[in-house]
Amino acid sequence: MSAETPAKKTLAAIKGTKDILPGEVEVWQMVEAGIRRLVELYGFRELRAPIIEPTELFEKGTGETSDIVTKEMYAFTDKGGRSITLRPEYTPSMARAILEHRLDLQPELMRYYYMGPMFRYDKPQKGRYRQFHQLDIEVFNEKDPAVDAEIIEMAGALLGSLGVAETETLVNSVGCRVCRPAYSRDLKASAEKVRDRLCPDCQRKITTNPLRIFDCKVEGCREEAARFPKITGYLCPECREHFAQVLSYLDLYKIAYKVEPNLVRGLDYYTKTTFEIISRGLGAQNALLGGGRYDDMMKDFGGPDICGTGFAMGLERLISVLHIRTERKKVLYIAHMGEDGKRKGLELARFFRGSGIGCLLEFGNKGFKAQFGRANKLGAAWVLIIGEDEIRKGLYQLKDMAAGTQTEGTAEDLLKIIRKKDGDMS
Ligand code: HAM
Repeated sequence: MSAETPAKKTLAAIKGTKDILPGEVEVWQMVEAGIRRLVELYGFRELRAPIIEPTELFEKGTGETSDIVTKEMYAFTDKGGRSITLRPEYTPSMARAILEHRLDLQPELMRYYYMGPMFRYDKPQKGRYRQFHQLDIEVFNEKDPAVDAEIIEMAGALLGSLGVAETETLVNSVGCRVCRPAYSRDLKASAEKVRDRLCPDCQRKITTNPLRIFDCKVEGCREEAARFPKITGYLCPECREHFAQVLSYLDLYKIAYKVEPNLVRGLDYYTKTTFEIISRGLGAQNALLGGGRYDDMMKDFGGPDICGTGFAMGLERLISVLHIRTERKKVLYIAHMGEDGKRKGLELARFFRGSGIGCLLEFGNKGFKAQFGRANKLGAAWVLIIGEDEIRKGLYQLKDMAAGTQTEGTAEDLLKIIRKKDGDMS
């Protein structure tokens, strides 16, 4: 390339984002449909909140010391001078929507789900994207530890129904505002002793929130954190009892789990239960889903004392461990010739589509042979032939591509034949 003609830069998707193309999208649709079916069996109903929210929602909800808020938010000032953020997670949006619409005053159970894109400005790698999708589920106003166990059971059932094997369920309790201060104090003291061996970010966390040191991905920090005191030894009687109950309900469900005392999770709002389900089939980003209880968020938003518990599952990570093959939908290819053939083709496509039969029709005056070639390439189950003779007689030729047989009939006759063989192809 000479200096005068610089290489044309093609436009590409933003780093860390991905197109989901036809061929892949069918897997997503199938997974989404399976998820909806299953969560609705547990009484969850969909709640759709906006993609953009006031930045303050995440500062107050996700927490000012979390990595998400300190480093990863897509925040900008809009033309009205407001600070807006592309949601990095969904839990605060759910809590906001409940307060805004006073859903807590309605008789229905407060069990909600949502699937959609989230945005985090993290370093992209396999399993970690800047735009990714989550299934988020939340239960509000249920203090009972049985609910924490029930949603873990649901998460397992969901993965099982999609054929995900080789998972491990990790659980922990991170205490509450009563017991955590003593733990944070001791944690701070331990971190202070090894300050020099921690990364600059973790050195800062000693002052802001020492619990967040457990989120650090730097190997040296992880090694140090593994030697820090464990929250489990600091739980107040209420949190200890709650955790014991969660575990006993998991035992009731016969769910295998591992208590992981360092599982504090990267968001500031958790109280009591935290959990993750990890997949052995994934690399470094091995958490398929994570969640826990958050008893103070609503109060912190200025609302009533309503507790919450829930989890979010990363759909890209989920789909990457699935082995789903989707079948292409059966279609009728309409081969036509000349202007009259084209017009008849348009009419018949309308007729067949109106009857639930998927049709493909191409334009460009190709001969019948070329159109048959295209029908083959496109995997059409049937080809309808509309030539001059057919138009004159009002009888068309239908070729069954798999059987190689050809039948003549009116559009209604041929519809019956297609239906008889394939059922509704819609
Ligand atoms: P989280 O652990 O931040 O929790 O995210 C949940 C899941 O979303 C992760 O386990 C992972 O599968 C997926 N995920 C997170 N970040 C990325 C990324 N950058 N790229 C791809 N996948 C990602 C939450 O978001 C909480 N709101 C969960 C919750 C709900 N807690 C209580 N209720």
